[in-house]
Amino acid sequence: MIFTVAIDGPAAAGKGTISRAVAARFGLAHLDTGLLYRAVGAKGGDPVTAARGLSEADLAAEGLRTLEAGQAASRVAAIPEVRAALVDYQRRFARAEGGAVLDGRDIGTVICPEAEVKLFVTASAEVRARRRWLELGGEAGPRPYPEVLAEVEERDRRDMGRADAPLRPAEDAVVLDTSDLDADEAVARACALVAARLPGAEAGR
Ligand code: CDP
Repeated sequence: MIFTVAIDGPAAAGKGTISRAVAARFGLAHLDTGLLYRAVGAKGGDPVTAARGLSEADLAAEGLRTLEAGQAASRVAAIPEVRAALVDYQRRFARAEGGAVLDGRDIGTVICPEAEVKLFVTASAEVRARRRWLELGGEAGPRPYPEVLAEVEERDRRDMGRADAPLRPAEDAVVLDTSDLDADEAVARACALVAARLPGAEAGR
């Protein structure tokens, strides 16, 4: 069975949580494509060379989840040669036997326009920044909320404004606004959508 679930959206919208849950529920492989760009940004040196030589060990490097790594990722992600170097790996993963969930920014638009399910997960910048701030420890964490909000907004601007594969919903994507949904509700909606299109899947299991 070839079956691709494309989950795109801006920073901290809930793509990761939804993607992991959908993959586990339907027994699909999962690729967090943001990690590829984070690893390229963290490697240092020439980003194009880093992208062409990316290894499993690079993806397991420490510190890839920090705000700084997110900013570095979004800077290298605007370089067309970096994106081009990562396309084949993502396409093969998306269309491999057994089915796959990929989350990122351009999965439904560029990497796999033929995906059977396309979801665009979003939420207001304030809600997303608050989630990221809480993940970082909230009041007890190292970053004040306004700083996290500014980083989220800066990354949105860069991701939406770049010429190559800008962040936007595919025309046939279902938009899921999670501003007023908790994680369980968001996951339930995504699963219902996949169940409706996946051959042999039971809805409401
Ligand atoms: O987890 P979060 O949503 O904050 O970020 P991420 O998905 O790990 O992505 C980090 C950065 O990589 C994004 O801000 C994008 O600039 C870039 N990215 C991309 O350009 N295309 C993708 N398919 C995935 C990530």
